[in-house]
Amino acid sequence: MQILIFEPHRGCKKVLLKKETPKINLGKTVRDGYEHIQLNSDFLPDYVGIIIYHEGKFYFRNYGKINIFVDNKRLEDSSVAMRLVHGSMIKIQYSENKNVYIGCIEGELDNKWKVFKPETNEVLDIQKDKKGYVIRNANDIIFHGRKINARYFLPKDGDIFMHDNRIFYSMKNNLFFDVLKNTNLQQQKKIVINKQKQYQPQHPQPINKRRPAISMEHVTRYDKKKKWYRLKDVNLTINSGRLVAIMGVSGAGKSTLFDAILKRLKLDEGTIKIDGDELGHVPQFSVLRKGNTVQETMEFYASKKLKKYNKEERMQKIDDLLDKLNLSLFKQSLVGRLSGGQSRRLDIAVQLLNEPRVILMDEPDSGLDIKSCRELYEILARLVADKNSTILVITHNTHMACKYPYIDDLLFMASQGRICFYGQKEDALNYFNINDLDDIYNAVENNQDYFVEKYNNLVNRRV
Ligand SMILES: Nc1ncnc2c1ncn2[C@@H]1O[C@H](COP(=O)(O)OP(=O)(O)OP(=O)(O)O)[C@@H](O)[C@H]1O
Ligand SMILES: [Mg+2]
Repeated sequence: MQILIFEPHRGCKKVLLKKETPKINLGKTVRDGYEHIQLNSDFLPDYVGIIIYHEGKFYFRNYGKINIFVDNKRLEDSSVAMRLVHGSMIKIQYSENKNVYIGCIEGELDNKWKVFKPETNEVLDIQKDKKGYVIRNANDIIFHGRKINARYFLPKDGDIFMHDNRIFYSMKNNLFFDVLKNTNLQQQKKIVINKQKQYQPQHPQPINKRRPAISMEHVTRYDKKKKWYRLKDVNLTINSGRLVAIMGVSGAGKSTLFDAILKRLKLDEGTIKIDGDELGHVPQFSVLRKGNTVQETMEFYASKKLKKYNKEERMQKIDDLLDKLNLSLFKQSLVGRLSGGQSRRLDIAVQLLNEPRVILMDEPDSGLDIKSCRELYEILARLVADKNSTILVITHNTHMACKYPYIDDLLFMASQGRICFYGQKEDALNYFNINDLDDIYNAVENNQDYFVEKYNNLVNRRV
């Protein structure tokens, strides 16, 4: 295994990890009795961590003095060693602009980093816009040690990922690549899907991308007074790692569907299973106190949701989130004085504090202009790509859901809480027999029952 160390202003250094050296120390200072890899950034502590070779596998363990992530998992303390595989990334985080990235690869490198030019590339469907790169159909990309299965992948600063025999490195709105040789793909596959725990220290559980995030069976609730179904025989399976737009006329039952998932609605019949016990929920109407500042609001929810973390870690997390949601400038603003878009983003930031695997958002884009709306969806798409989370967004913004690349799946609801369609966006054209996704509402308008039945037939056939 080789590691590539990217330090800000100090370029890239390549180090071969040998099996003969079972322990290699990383840091600014040489540690007695250890092999050593020198890191040069001033902001790092003397000892950062150690790479261990044990029974044919490499692991990383930190010394607990600085925030370190291996494949997006934060190392809690020095008792945990994380497995390193082809494509793994170690991120040593000091502050927003002071991070050291270490990528792990099997195979030899060409040692010729070049700027990647999307237009000359035939293998990846990759485009560049003002905010960076967008890779479409990113199914064969190895990122954080796993193959990602996403329709869109938006690499961020410092990200390292592999495709085919190339390694990519994204920095300051540029993408660099180098060519990998002698990569034993057979062995690579074995590593990526190896689920067995053979070594006591924990290592990240490979996430089964096809594991359902939400599954609902025969979910029904009848309103006896109104003689009206609030939800009627809802059968639905949503896999993890999807960004789903929920559409349908006003009063169809979209928010009610969320109430059911949140277990706030008493069911007459049916079962609902959710992956993980934490659900994020951005309600249709904000519930944040208007008299508090943004910072106070975040601190209040952090103290409730991040009990395991100490104050410093909470503050770091708050800073990261406010930055991610473009709210850093408004830390001291009162919630009641925020613009519509800013306050929606704050609703979302609060929900992201404890990184729930499934997040429900009820019209997070209402009242946003096109630009803020795009920014919001971009943030959501990145979240799904990075964390493999599942996000359900109720929206009346057909254009944004259908015409922009962010949304993966559509869920269309008919009156009385019934489902007309759930599936990949591209499949909707065929399903509704339309040429333009903007016509969905027209297609459904007088044919609700027909499409509900069509959906139910499809679901029953799948079972
Ligand atoms: N607490 C409640 N008790 C009884 N009926 C309710 C309740 N809340 C909503 N309803 C009814 O259930 C139906 C679905 O409401 P829901 O809020 O789920 O619609 P929606 O699809 O989210 O609509 P919108 O797009 O306007 O937000 C409506 O007819 C509504 O009047
Ligand atoms: Mg609603």
